[in-house]
Amino acid sequence: MIKARKVSYAYGETVALRDVSFDLPRGQTLAVVGPSGCGKTTLLGLIAGLLPITAGELLVDGAPVQPRRPGTALILQDYGLLPWKTVRENAALGLRIRRLPVDAADQALREVGIADLARRWPHQLSGGQQQRVAIARALALGPDLLLMDEPFSALDALTREEMQDLLLAIWRKRQTSLVLVTHSITEAVYLGQQILVLSRRPGRVVDLFANPAVGDRRADAFHSMVNRVRDALEKGVNGGA
Ligand SMILES: Nc1ncnc2c1ncn2[C@@H]1O[C@H](COP(=O)(O)OP(=O)(O)O)[C@@H](O)[C@H]1O
Ligand SMILES: [Mg+2]
Repeated sequence: MIKARKVSYAYGETVALRDVSFDLPRGQTLAVVGPSGCGKTTLLGLIAGLLPITAGELLVDGAPVQPRRPGTALILQDYGLLPWKTVRENAALGLRIRRLPVDAADQALREVGIADLARRWPHQLSGGQQQRVAIARALALGPDLLLMDEPFSALDALTREEMQDLLLAIWRKRQTSLVLVTHSITEAVYLGQQILVLSRRPGRVVDLFANPAVGDRRADAFHSMVNRVRDALEKGVNGGA
């Protein structure tokens, strides 16, 4: 689904990413972790086609990234809900823009477990519920590639685990390819079949782990993977990459 080869990116003098390479097979998940400011959001921007590829090669579904690829959905941390629209209208936003039938929004709201809140306003929702609306909006369009930028970082720990479970269930059902940027090592290990660890800026690949522990927080393999990712992060922060 994604093939990245030596992708670099600079904002003027500021080099954000350097020589990042990885492959994401169709239907699989990749978690990206790295220190603040190391280029994680930049990487998502490149994959989403919001930033131009200026160095290296980046293919999505076999083709060079294009802006507004219909199958790519990007979910941002701040949810992006319109306060003057109901939950249902917010979930249907992408469909309306593309002049598609809005029934898919109702189905998506059911899928994320908030069909009963369809007529509420965003300010009447908890953080976790708002995040569900944002996910429903993306799912309504039937994406084959879901990009998420620290989607759960504003949520309390229990809600966060609930949302991780929901995302895992959605992914298992839909087999959507997923790139998840996160600050949380445990979140990366819970959700990423591969875990890409970036160094501090400019973000380089410190390590790319194949993770057998997806979906099982209690497994021994989970805890040993958490430790391996932690070691790699420390190496990257100390400039050892
Ligand atoms: N529009 C921009 N102009 C200049 N520098 C930027 C811009 N966006 C991000 N940066 C810089 O690029 C680096 C990577 O940013 P970002 O990808 O947002 O990091 P992360 O998401 O890992 O925290 C940071 O040092 C940031 O300050
Ligand atoms: Mg960021």
